[in-house]
Amino acid sequence: MDGLKQRITAAIHNQPQPTVTVLSSLLAVEDAIGYIPKDAVEEVADLTGTTINDVWAVASFYPNFRFDPPCEHQLELCWGPSCHLMGAMAVIAAALDQVGVEGEGDTSDGKLSLRYNTCLGACAQAPVISADHNLMGRQSPEKVRAAVTALLASPSPHGQGGN
Ligand code: FES
Repeated sequence: MDGLKQRITAAIHNQPQPTVTVLSSLLAVEDAIGYIPKDAVEEVADLTGTTINDVWAVASFYPNFRFDPPCEHQLELCWGPSCHLMGAMAVIAAALDQVGVEGEGDTSDGKLSLRYNTCLGACAQAPVISADHNLMGRQSPEKVRAAVTALLASPSPHGQGGN
């Protein structure tokens, strides 16, 4: 069994909650690996006694799942109402400038996936970003530039290219 398949199996079979569903299994894989490989869809179908088509239907319904390996790092920028009121647009402009991109997407060097989010669930600390799934509140253009620099200099949580 190759390394990716082992990680898929471990993620699916080590779910702590008593009720395992297609969605919980997909979330476990996404958390562990950073995307949903084809092998994971087959394994989730086996485990939950459903079909590959049914698993794909669930997976494709949720826009946050990705089906190709992620970049080394993930940066989410909240532009929800609370963050917007507290200066998110200046934070986002500084982050885009620091990364050297014009909007959402993956950088061509595979280092960073940048996404907008409509609420990261920490409105009291607006404006908020998430750097490799670590929430960072009360951002300013200066802070987000430093956060992007630190993020790009840190080791990838998923390993290079998610594998
Ligand atoms: S609107 Fe940004 S964290 Fe809720």
